[in-house]
Amino acid sequence: MKVAVLPGDGVGPEIVAQAVRVLMAVRPDIECCQALVGAAAMRAGKAALPDETRALCDSSDAILFGSVGDAQLDGQPFERRPETALFSLRHDYKLFANLRPVRVYDGLEHASSLHAHLIHGLDLIVVRELTGGIYFGVPKERGVRQGVAWAVDTLSYTAPEVERIARVAFELARSRRKRITSVDKHNILQTSRLWRDVVSEVACEYPDVQVEHLLVDNASMQLVRRPRDFDVIVTENMFGDILSDEAAILCGSIGNLPSASLSSDVSVRAFGMYEPIGGTAPDIAGKGIANPTGAILSAAMLLRYTAGDEENAARIETAVAQAFRRGVRTPDLARDGDRPVTTAAFGDEVIAGL
Ligand code: IPM
Ligand code: MN
Repeated sequence: MKVAVLPGDGVGPEIVAQAVRVLMAVRPDIECCQALVGAAAMRAGKAALPDETRALCDSSDAILFGSVGDAQLDGQPFERRPETALFSLRHDYKLFANLRPVRVYDGLEHASSLHAHLIHGLDLIVVRELTGGIYFGVPKERGVRQGVAWAVDTLSYTAPEVERIARVAFELARSRRKRITSVDKHNILQTSRLWRDVVSEVACEYPDVQVEHLLVDNASMQLVRRPRDFDVIVTENMFGDILSDEAAILCGSIGNLPSASLSSDVSVRAFGMYEPIGGTAPDIAGKGIANPTGAILSAAMLLRYTAGDEENAARIETAVAQAFRRGVRTPDLARDGDRPVTTAAFGDEVIAGL
């Protein structure tokens, strides 16, 4: 197996380094090759996704990604921003299924902005459609019409696009608590009516899975009201973008969250891109204090979904949970009286606990 390691910008390199160490500790046979992406590539005079980086991805079984973005480039038109790398990878490798698991680890309840009794033991997963919807629909333009500044984005879905992401969610639900919440805006959007109909059709094939449909505004409220009731949340691209950030912070730090972006159902070993969802965190980049948990858990997801190595995936997840239980925390999760550890020291603790 070969993994393309693309650390990218901000805290990406620091946290991905720990993920690679942990991965190597359990699977020294996996070949990891590093390449430039994002602003890091652009500063070297290359494109956000250089040809050689793409070639490496082409010849790999999976991508372990850090994060991309650079505030200095925020004023640039979209085509000249580091984020385009992420879009190209999602689009070109058809990574339509984005899995974002959210777990509250024992001992970290204090870090959440919700009361501990509401989130203790929380374990949900957001399944976000990643290659369709308003992110990619055309027309997507900005200009002037009849002397008035104007812009348009297009929200469009086909039934097969909805069906394949629904299947991912139902298959996952079967391996979990067998509950699906499908989120849409059925009262307003045509795409949501299609979404709800297709999800309901797929549901007929999974009589053992309980399905609820929620409107996105209500879903965002229920997520902070009764978060533990959720098991699998399936939704379209932009709703998933928003709800997954909301779900992420339930566990206290977005630095804890891994993700997988897959090109097929979870029942087969898939090509995938694995990335922490915390972003570049420029305020703490380079200080050695970023939380590498999301990156380390992304490596675990890589083992589960691309390598089919459930045993080592679970070993990593257990070692992370145990580190938290021993009180090991980076500053984002520390509270008064804790002695926070560095990014590398957190990696050491996970490796020691494997
Ligand atoms: C995410 C991010 C991206 C998205 C941005 C960086 C384009 O927020 O992965 O959730 O909106 O998909
Ligand atoms: Mn997002």
